[in-house]
Amino acid sequence: MLADVSRNGAIGITGVGSYVPERVLTNEDLSKLVDTSDEWITDRTGIKERHVAEPDQAASDLAVPAARQALAAARLDPSDLDLVIVATVTPDMFFPSTGSLLASALGADDAGAYDLSAGCTGFMYALAQAYGALAGGLADSALVVGTETLSKITNWHDRSTCVLFGDGAGAVVLQRVTGAGFLGFELGSDGEGGKELSIPAGGSRNPVSAETVAQEMHFLQMNGREVYKFATRILVSSAEKLLEECGLTVEDIDLYIPHQANKRIIDHAARNLGIPDEKIFVNVQRYGNTSSASIPLCLAEAVADGRLREGTRVLMTGMGAGLTWGSAYTIWNDGRAA
Ligand code: ACO
Repeated sequence: MLADVSRNGAIGITGVGSYVPERVLTNEDLSKLVDTSDEWITDRTGIKERHVAEPDQAASDLAVPAARQALAAARLDPSDLDLVIVATVTPDMFFPSTGSLLASALGADDAGAYDLSAGCTGFMYALAQAYGALAGGLADSALVVGTETLSKITNWHDRSTCVLFGDGAGAVVLQRVTGAGFLGFELGSDGEGGKELSIPAGGSRNPVSAETVAQEMHFLQMNGREVYKFATRILVSSAEKLLEECGLTVEDIDLYIPHQANKRIIDHAARNLGIPDEKIFVNVQRYGNTSSASIPLCLAEAVADGRLREGTRVLMTGMGAGLTWGSAYTIWNDGRAA
């Protein structure tokens, strides 16, 4: 799906927030759990450390402080929210949705609330849905949250996956704005590739049983090489399609925020797109791959350190389980709702 949405009037992000659990797990710590080293992890992924939730912290617990921060930045009372969308692959439970739990914790009593599952692309899909709801007149405000406790679905004995992931949450508020806001989205999916990155048990295909647990089918499983090939290809093609649809070239982009899966994947994509280092936002070294939380964590940091300000032209692309991908182009406004 490719959409030039410029005819809809300005809808943009008016507040951002983030939260990561306190506990930090370094590469050195991991080398005591599995046969790995700081050198291997840094060389292959660029990751140095990641944050890990406590046993009693679920996805909604990380989402609440991130969401409160985003609402405060947007100067929006939670009771005025129309819509809450939570992108996550690690919901508190199958149901009730983490969106409903979050809305209730915030006091967003009039908001429709639900979860969205699109792997690491979840936040991009959720942004597009929230945008569509505002553009179509279904909502005047939406809270979009990416929150993950990937540590809970990680097999801590599998060195090929446990070094990659981290926990965290990022949140944004969407409203009509006086600036330019979102100008295009590109979303896609390829279920044929779904087998390359999955949790095989726990759903209706393979309900959890003593046998699935014994076979460790309730943990995330990944074919790293295939996912690498997919990610490097799709980051480039999705961005190129969107830029073309919007009549732009990479020179028109001030800040490129790719999903933070792996520094090697990001470098490869940026090189092929022709985006110079100074325009790429990278924080994977401190958080690892936080799936749906990765892009909003970048947005919150980029606002805090001044890299995102009025007029900054931003390209974001996510990709992940499904397999799925999604890009958005937006011109940042300074948080002023229309
Ligand atoms: N420490 C040390 N050695 C390791 C580790 C580790 N943590 N993990 C694997 N190895 C070993 C392997 O066993 C293998 O050893 P062998 O040659 O003796 O068999 C060797 O390192 C090379 O393994 P490869 O899997 O070929 O390593 P590769 O260079 O492909 O890097 C990696 C692996 C980092 C996982 C890479 O494939 C990758 O980045 N894939 C994409 C992963 C990703 O980003 N997924 C998420 C994207 S989508 C989403 O966000 C959900």
